[in-house]
Amino acid sequence: MDEPRKFVAPEIVFGVGALEMAGRYARNLGATKILLVTDPGVTDAGWPRSVIAALSAEGVAHVVYADVSPNPRAEEVMLGAECYQAENCDVIVAVGGGSSMDCAKGIGIVSTNGRHVLEFEGVDRVDLPGPPLICIPTTAGTSADVSQFAIINNLYEKIKIAIISKSVVPDVALIDPTTTMTMDAGLTASTGMDALVHAAEALVSSAGSPLTDLHALEAVRLIYDHLPVVLETPDDLQLRGKVMLGSLEAGLAFSNASLGAVHAMSHSLGGRLDMAHGESNSILVDHVLRFNWPAAENRYRRIGAAMGLDLAGRPSEEARELLVDAVVRFKHGVGIRKTLKDCGVEPGDVPALARNALNDPCMATNPVLPDAAQIEKIYEEAF
Ligand SMILES: [Fe+2]
Repeated sequence: MDEPRKFVAPEIVFGVGALEMAGRYARNLGATKILLVTDPGVTDAGWPRSVIAALSAEGVAHVVYADVSPNPRAEEVMLGAECYQAENCDVIVAVGGGSSMDCAKGIGIVSTNGRHVLEFEGVDRVDLPGPPLICIPTTAGTSADVSQFAIINNLYEKIKIAIISKSVVPDVALIDPTTTMTMDAGLTASTGMDALVHAAEALVSSAGSPLTDLHALEAVRLIYDHLPVVLETPDDLQLRGKVMLGSLEAGLAFSNASLGAVHAMSHSLGGRLDMAHGESNSILVDHVLRFNWPAAENRYRRIGAAMGLDLAGRPSEEARELLVDAVVRFKHGVGIRKTLKDCGVEPGDVPALARNALNDPCMATNPVLPDAAQIEKIYEEAF
């Protein structure tokens, strides 16, 4: 028998109209005043306004905190926590992508524990849970709305830290595919690729379980089949819903199985160069796949099967290259063609990038633990 594994998830409402339930859920959680955490791009798209209307309809007051960068910074978390306390808020609602939701998670645990957000780095380092948190995602990719991860940017040391704790799992995820209709093609592609990488890394993770496998495989199917079509017909809500569901299932999988080398190396890039997360994942994914293949061949073959590839009976190397080709074609097909060089990464950055990637908690569940020299080689292959 496999060893026992836990599976944690928030209460989830999935479907068109879920956003409008924000007021009812906030009231049920006892809210009198909400801190609504969002960012300028999502504000322009209008989703916070819709959430505020739902809150007001239930008589719940609110204050907006919208100073969140694409890679949320520790300072932004600390200022958000000050705002939460100064305004006497009692519930947090995050509306946005991973940055707003991760920032909201940080604000929550800083408010209850009275410590600096960077002190929570690592696995299970949070003593007290934050106040009730409702997440309303507006991208189909990060799945911070269901995960026990928060990624925060430490600008001084140029690293991204990962906070992994059951305490940062939101209480409620209101997942409304309508919110993804305002994403442009670039954001749709990069967040969709992030979700596909979540599913793949969860499947080959050394902490996976039958429950996480189930969600991860279905996520691969949903995203691989539907993301390219969504880019051709971005106004098709049904299709948007399929990708959003894929992202949700990938999130349930990786939140519980954790991730691997792609995310560890991607966090390192994001911290040092402020690179977009979905883009750096996409640049690395096929190179990590080649490196990991010998340690997780059967699991990668299952991913290939979920993508509709005929790998059965093929010799190992041939199957690996078929899968790598399919992944590369897929990312190029959704418009992501950059290399590390195109993103301004210099060869001289590689040793520090590798050092930080090695220390990232996501590396611990990669199917094989690389050393610094091996990580450097993977980065070099991605130039
Ligand atoms: Fe990710």
